[in-house]
Amino acid sequence: MSKQQLLTPYHKNINLKNRVVMAPMTRSRADNEGSVATDELHGLYYEQRASAGLIITEGSQVSKDAVGYIHTAGIHTEEQVEGWKKVTKRVHDKGGKIFIQLWHVGRMSHPDFHNGELPLAPSAINPNAKSYTPEGFKDTVTPKAMTIDDIKTTVKDFKNAAANAIKAGFDGVEIHSSNGYLFHQFFTATSNLRTDEYGGNIENRTRFFFEVLDAMKEVIPQEKIGVRFNPSLDGLFGITMDEETIPTFESIIKKLNDYNLAYVHLSEPFTDVSNIPFAVKEIAKHFRPLYNGTLMINSAFDQVKGNKVIEDGYADLVAYGKPFISNPDLVERFRDHLELAEWDESTFYVPGAKGYTDYPTASK
Ligand SMILES: Cc1cc2nc3c(=O)[nH]c(=O)nc-3n(C[C@H](O)[C@H](O)[C@H](O)COP(=O)(O)O)c2cc1C
Repeated sequence: MSKQQLLTPYHKNINLKNRVVMAPMTRSRADNEGSVATDELHGLYYEQRASAGLIITEGSQVSKDAVGYIHTAGIHTEEQVEGWKKVTKRVHDKGGKIFIQLWHVGRMSHPDFHNGELPLAPSAINPNAKSYTPEGFKDTVTPKAMTIDDIKTTVKDFKNAAANAIKAGFDGVEIHSSNGYLFHQFFTATSNLRTDEYGGNIENRTRFFFEVLDAMKEVIPQEKIGVRFNPSLDGLFGITMDEETIPTFESIIKKLNDYNLAYVHLSEPFTDVSNIPFAVKEIAKHFRPLYNGTLMINSAFDQVKGNKVIEDGYADLVAYGKPFISNPDLVERFRDHLELAEWDESTFYVPGAKGYTDYPTASK
């Protein structure tokens, strides 16, 4: 049997023992007053998955304004930093590496999270989606268009969160610039109608993202920063593609060659985009030639497809989401060609250990 590319080490800015990455996944287990990651739940969950080459945590809010889902852990208070320290220690003790995903949901939120105030967004346009509030799913509202001061504050929040991440012992951070959240709302012409320097053309719509990246690199080495995009996202999380969408992502990714990042993390389309003329159908294939650094690819990969995409030269690392929920020992199962356990969607976002830390390894 030929060598599995997924199981080979990777050394470029980050040193990984294999190329199997755990994708960021919100699991809503921080059901405590301070939105703190706990040793008993988060610590154990990530420790169980430490044989991944790299773990990327759940999206973690960079400020109180950044929240849009119940029971997500933050990275903006001292108490939250202390909580994460226990998690990173557990993963490191098992020989693993862990990045934290830094998140601002923008308009994908609800006034219930903000003492009745409106969520922030590039423009006052309702995404017409649902927000998962403490009282269940509610319709999103028309958000508040961010002022220049709001933008400056948010840049500071990301910078502060990046510094906190290093304090908490993380090996790096991933900016959540994907999946219809704040940065994606700025990138997309249908959600960004601004007429100032943050809207109107590609350079302006991507300015806020690069301001955040530049601010973060003042406090942590850029080799410890990863970024995530979902260029062909359409019809989900309030995002609609248009003819400028792909050129916008091409421009961002080309510009990222001037940085020396940990990686660029891309998702293949989440839905069938064959009828959308503006969409790129094969993301890794399209973007690989545009980027010189480490490229991570995600979405609906299995073992065979993961090995192949690396073999074909379209990606360096492969991120697995749902398979890691139900297979804490995903790497060992790939190594030994074992069957994978199915995940239970009903326990994705519920409190407690069930469906979180109770999936057994194949050997148990
Ligand atoms: C329960 C769940 C929570 C998720 N939360 C996040 C998140 O916090 N941040 C993010 O970038 N993507 C999130 N995603 C998307 C995953 O990272 C990944 O892109 C998606 O599951 C597709 O990969 P897969 O087919 O390997 O599962 C989530 C997915 C699931 C299933």
